[in-house]
Amino acid sequence: MENRGIYYIDFGTQAHFVEEIEKMNSEYYFKNRRNRMYHIITYGCQMNVHDSEKLAGMLNAMGYIETQNIEEADLIIFNTCAVREHAESRVYGNIGPLKKLKDKKPDLIIGVCGCMPQQVEVAQKLARLFPFLDIIFGTKSLHRFPQLLYKAITEHKTVIDVAEDEDVVAEGIPTARKEGVSAFVNIIYGCNNFCSYCIVPYVRGRERSRRPEEILFEIEQLAANGVKEVTLLGQNVNSYGKDLPDGIPFHKLLEKVNDINGIERIRFVTSHPKDLLDDLIYAMRDLEKVCEHIHLPVQSGSTRILKEMNRHYTKEDYLKLVEKLKNNIPDIAITTDIIVGFPGETEEDFEDTLDVVKKVEFDSAFTFMYSKRRGTRAAQMPNQVPDEVKRERFQRLLKLVEEIALKKNKQMLGNTYEILIDGYAKKNNLLVGRTRTNKVVNVKCSEDFMYKFVNVRILEATEHWLYGEVI
Ligand code: SAH
Ligand code: SF4
Ligand code: F3S
Repeated sequence: MENRGIYYIDFGTQAHFVEEIEKMNSEYYFKNRRNRMYHIITYGCQMNVHDSEKLAGMLNAMGYIETQNIEEADLIIFNTCAVREHAESRVYGNIGPLKKLKDKKPDLIIGVCGCMPQQVEVAQKLARLFPFLDIIFGTKSLHRFPQLLYKAITEHKTVIDVAEDEDVVAEGIPTARKEGVSAFVNIIYGCNNFCSYCIVPYVRGRERSRRPEEILFEIEQLAANGVKEVTLLGQNVNSYGKDLPDGIPFHKLLEKVNDINGIERIRFVTSHPKDLLDDLIYAMRDLEKVCEHIHLPVQSGSTRILKEMNRHYTKEDYLKLVEKLKNNIPDIAITTDIIVGFPGETEEDFEDTLDVVKKVEFDSAFTFMYSKRRGTRAAQMPNQVPDEVKRERFQRLLKLVEEIALKKNKQMLGNTYEILIDGYAKKNNLLVGRTRTNKVVNVKCSEDFMYKFVNVRILEATEHWLYGEVI
């Protein structure tokens, strides 16, 4: 096995900067009887949501407190996503108006981090368009945030850190998770797959796994603090361990997590169909804490398009895999990601996608119109699909996806499921939780059930959520 020499780094190297900023913030507090406050705006996937929890953890350690009100913040950070053009344009649109706030409060610190500025030309563009920004840094510099912040505060100039060649695994970053009993845990960073449409390998670097003992230690700590459900994160969790000289494969990691007292549910995202081995299917079948849900992005149902996408499986491979999953784990929920309008996609290719959706009957699907990403192979391909064709296919796909989701949810009516309650529903004084199959259920029950397991009978079903009562 090739060992590229993973570069581990401990957050302890940042201690000096954490302490210096903490000192400034406590002086500020005694002078003004008010804490400095931060506000983080997060775009993109769970990986980014979890990175924001690390930003929050570092800021708390430096003596800041969080505010939901951007107007009263002393520090504002945009943690950005680059996966589609729409995600990027929202960020540009939201940074501009902050100039006014900065003019009013010259000490305000504004930062942009995450996947957008991990592209050098985007980092430069941000600095050019918004000279009032204080810090611009990519995903690879997250563990250095205190140092960058210190520099921005003391030197009063825009600090840019992109670190293209640095693929590190940083351990020990303090993490401020949202209140509750569910937690995200990174197991592998980066992606080696280079699907031809995708920017992620360029902005998240090569695959690198965390050591199993670090992961298990983190989960044991979480369990000791009352966490009951963990979601293991990676762009392709099935690659876990392959880059470690003495690594264990993903299904073995699941076995070890399954042994941790206090953890009751284990989830993971995302699985690449080409790397999903039988061992994982058996682990899902046999390990009682691993939930009966898999997110298995198909992207397209056309073998020809899948080849152009560099996905390394055919329509038939995918359908066979789904059959194996369903045979071994009868109650399994399967969710997916689908792109319409990939370059060269014909009506016939698109019908193959509809066909897969009908055959698999996905419990839900994230559907996207193909978006051209600079630097990816697909951006250079001929026969880009016109927007109106993409939109029309998108609508047809969405309609089918929703019909099937509704049908599947209606099959749950009258049955009883174990729900882990983890918050308030948007309206009607209901609580909300999820089934093991990751379905959202609004529940009529007393607040005493918050963060607890409860058996719920399903009484109402829509395509996106269910409603039930405690039995
Ligand atoms: N690593 C995960 C998720 C990657 S990004 C995986 O492999 O499944 C999440 C989803 O965004 C992808 O699954 C894909 O469906 C979509 N996506 C990625 N690049 C895209 C692009 N250029 N245009 C439209 N959708 C895209
Ligand atoms: Fe992107 Fe493909 Fe990697 Fe997923 S597996 S992050 S879609 S390149
Ligand atoms: Fe977006 Fe970066 Fe995730 S590009 S989808 S936030 S890995």
